[in-house]
Amino acid sequence: MSNYHVKTLEEYFQVYRKSVRNPELFWEEIAEEHFVWRKKWNNVLSYDFTKPEVKWFEGAKLNITENCIDRHLQIRGDKTAILFEPNNPDEEAEHISYKELHKRVCKFANVLKENGIKKGDRVCVYLPMIPELAISVLACARIGAVHSVVFAGFSSTALSTRINDCEAKMVITSDGSYRGAKTIDLKGIVDEALESCECIDTVLVAKRIDSEINMKEGRDKWLQPLLDKASENCDPEIMDAEDPLFILYTSGSTGSPKGMLHTTAGYMIYTAYTFKNVFNYKENDVYWCTADIGWITGHSYIVYGPLANGATTVMFEGVPSYPDFGRFWEIVEKHKVNQFYTAPTAIRSLAKEKLDFVDQYDLSSLKVLGTVGEPINEEAWHWYNDNVGNKKSPIVDTWWQTETGGMMISPMPYITPTKPTYATLPLPGVQLALMDENGEEIKGNQVDGRLCVKYPWPSMARTIWGNHQRYKDTYFSAFENKYFTGDGALRDEVGYYRITGRVDDVIIVSGHNLGTAPIEDAINEHPAVAESAIVGFPHDVKGNALYGYVILKDVGESRNHDNLRKEINQIITEHIGPIAKLNKIQFTVGLPKTRSGKIMRRILRKIAHNELDNLGDVSTLLNPEVVQSIIDNRL
Ligand code: PRX
Repeated sequence: MSNYHVKTLEEYFQVYRKSVRNPELFWEEIAEEHFVWRKKWNNVLSYDFTKPEVKWFEGAKLNITENCIDRHLQIRGDKTAILFEPNNPDEEAEHISYKELHKRVCKFANVLKENGIKKGDRVCVYLPMIPELAISVLACARIGAVHSVVFAGFSSTALSTRINDCEAKMVITSDGSYRGAKTIDLKGIVDEALESCECIDTVLVAKRIDSEINMKEGRDKWLQPLLDKASENCDPEIMDAEDPLFILYTSGSTGSPKGMLHTTAGYMIYTAYTFKNVFNYKENDVYWCTADIGWITGHSYIVYGPLANGATTVMFEGVPSYPDFGRFWEIVEKHKVNQFYTAPTAIRSLAKEKLDFVDQYDLSSLKVLGTVGEPINEEAWHWYNDNVGNKKSPIVDTWWQTETGGMMISPMPYITPTKPTYATLPLPGVQLALMDENGEEIKGNQVDGRLCVKYPWPSMARTIWGNHQRYKDTYFSAFENKYFTGDGALRDEVGYYRITGRVDDVIIVSGHNLGTAPIEDAINEHPAVAESAIVGFPHDVKGNALYGYVILKDVGESRNHDNLRKEINQIITEHIGPIAKLNKIQFTVGLPKTRSGKIMRRILRKIAHNELDNLGDVSTLLNPEVVQSIIDNRL
């Protein structure tokens, strides 16, 4: 039996038990069997959750691109590595073979070097879903530069915050992007962001939409002419196992976004292992994950995990609704996709449309369906199972986080019996704990609590860039010697896990992680606003939508409330991006506060959920009278 590919439920339990009994041996066998090392490790794992410090495969030397590209050249050189499907269905798809990918990554890596990028430098990538995005990420990894991809839907302010936080030297962007029938002026957003960034020396610009843009002399360079001149050979930089691979920002419940730092060897092994098992990937399968590489799902399961397995990974530039709501299924038919991985919010939005959009396509190639990013409700699960999977393709509901680097809880298809809304069982190597509010572990089944992980796994984030104390406070301080996920979960009678949602002030909207604090900070920038509080409320497509309670400075002022609402959403769009816009904005004279001045979000949440019977004791509040007024004026 190989640890690397689990084939039966019995094997899963055996492998799982082994991974708990002897985690080091378990991961060492996988590392030995499947990867290219320039030098083997001296030590598999050392860790101390009180610092917290975690090191996997110390002493090992490798380059992740050698594992994702070079080692496939002999046996899979002509196989398609990246299958690019453009936004416009009339534009031809591009099949990039492993050989071609090798050439393009090497050329790009040489361009980075010629523009002053060295090992350890940070490079910000702000690109649409075009091949250059995957290639630039791999080119950074080739030379040991640390990539920081910023989702190209983020605003200029969000971009500049992220560039400044990691002091990136370069931005890689494009003249613009396509999004359905629209185009977006990405370069304009970059120019605006860079007005408040001093660290950037160079901006490389890929051509995508052929728009007229400004090129700042001495700073901005068109990418293609540089690639044309660059050499096709670039020896990989030899990295230590724990050298940084990338930074990816995620929202926290307070303060600025957290730059989660992922390192090289453990991340590679874990994403490769989970990709293979959770999608049951076979040599000639075509795999498609609809996420954007701007999120962790794209990093781990469009780029690194699939390529480390020599897979064919589809990259889709467009949106599910363009040119119509059948686009996903048209692509599945066209490329005979075998594994399809998407978000519940996309499923819910497509389930609202006519079934004909699905039924007209031949989806018989599908073998495994996946979801990620938020809890999937029962109705969406059944729609996906019945209409897309034809009740034959198991659904893998994968629970994980930017911080975990790879999937943590998921069925293995054709092995683990699925159960709607349940992510089911921990993957091998993942040791979970449910904790109660007193910090005690809750044993047994049919229980619920706060979800923690009590032992290191190879792809966990090692720190928050530039702020290790925050890393410790956020993840390792709530419960002694455990990583706290921020999620609540229940464990059913057979030990299956169901994620019940966040227990902190992070709200998942359309699968995107949003912290309340930065949105409130943005709203408070409006000159008419005195204070604000955001909570989530259920939404049938987005999962959650945002409800804002806003106190105006001058309540007597007769400003048009609809205009104010528009202005507030405009500010949010400028500071964060359109994904953080509020669905409802209620103007109020006050917010319920504790005597120490803390906003009681629990009460606001209940009002937004319309659960008015169960507000709890409000008499101890500083201002109990405000609660009734909020209820009376709720939207
Ligand atoms: O609350 C959980 C939810 O998404 C959070 C992580 O968000 P992010 O770091 O953006 O990563 C998303 C992609 C991996 C988690 O703390 N979440 C993620 N997957 C699931 C989920 N909630 C329920 N079920 C899932 N399958």
